[in-house]
Amino acid sequence: MVSAPGRVNLIGEHIDYHGLPVLPMALRRSIHVHFQARADNRICVSSGAYGHREFAWTTGLTPVARGDWENYLRAAAQAIGGKWGVMRGMDATIDSDLPAAAGLSSSSALIVAVTLALLRANRREASFEDLMEILPDGEQFVGTRGGGMDHAASLASRAGCASLIEFVPLAVRHIPIPAGWAFLVANSLQIAEKSGAVRERYNAVRTSGTLALGETGFASYGEAIESRTEEELVALAAAKRLAPAFLHVVTEAFRVRHAVEAMQDDDSARFGRLLLASHASLRDRLQISCPALDRLVEAAMDSGALGARLTGGGFGGCAVVFCRRGDLSKVHDGLVERFYSGSADHILPAEAGPGAVNS
Ligand code: GLA
Repeated sequence: MVSAPGRVNLIGEHIDYHGLPVLPMALRRSIHVHFQARADNRICVSSGAYGHREFAWTTGLTPVARGDWENYLRAAAQAIGGKWGVMRGMDATIDSDLPAAAGLSSSSALIVAVTLALLRANRREASFEDLMEILPDGEQFVGTRGGGMDHAASLASRAGCASLIEFVPLAVRHIPIPAGWAFLVANSLQIAEKSGAVRERYNAVRTSGTLALGETGFASYGEAIESRTEEELVALAAAKRLAPAFLHVVTEAFRVRHAVEAMQDDDSARFGRLLLASHASLRDRLQISCPALDRLVEAAMDSGALGARLTGGGFGGCAVVFCRRGDLSKVHDGLVERFYSGSADHILPAEAGPGAVNS
């Protein structure tokens, strides 16, 4: 069996695909694949919740109908095939305790777990770098032009730590989470299915950031952040009337830096303020929040949280809620009462777990 955890992004949203560092952590909720190698090239996978899928692993696989979960299986097979060639298939069953379509990266965890299972079924060793070379691109097979955050967090996180993931060059730094800090993941109940309707909107946000960068003369966002202060970049955005996506990307990059400092200094008040500023930027500049997420963030703050923000691709899904460990039950119960009319079914405590290759 192999398992790949979901992740919750603490801060650094919609900037991974611009090559900028992000700060997620793996959850103790995973997708599990029980598998056995086959003698032929068929990939046969059953999931209690989603049914059975079966196809021959050949070169040049193409996607099936949009929204069909078989595309995630095909994405993994196609990604491996591009680097190592087509190999033996497998019989597999999948189970999961990770909520789907909630911004917790269940789709990336599925691709990671199926990829690792296929490689192991073929007795292939793959390094973290190898996997990061194929996985983010592999996901584009499904249609979302995301970055590498989800796969890196699912693979390389460490228990008790947030993962500062850098992409240029690829590196993961494990930042210990202070003992007195606690996180909750709360579902807005607004479904955000990455392969579904939000796909174009997600990709449009990415394009808008890329086009804005093109008007600045910087070769990359990384270069902009390294060579200018935040104030200079804000002034440049105003002078050139750049799309709001530019301001989001650069200010979010500085927030990630400050959040790492706050975590290292055990400065929970500062960390909380940064989460709130991130949410406001995602809501107002990128316009990827929704009324349910905004109300959820507000309900968290009214319940005694130090900060909260939408997490993941946006347009629905979950919020990450941050509080002092001693306030955890107060914040939890406050949310149950204020947002969920008494039901505790949609809030998970989020403890930082190990990644698939670190367990
Ligand atoms: C999705 C993508 C990630 C990242 C986030 C937004 O989860 O898969 O790569 O872009 O959205 O931060």
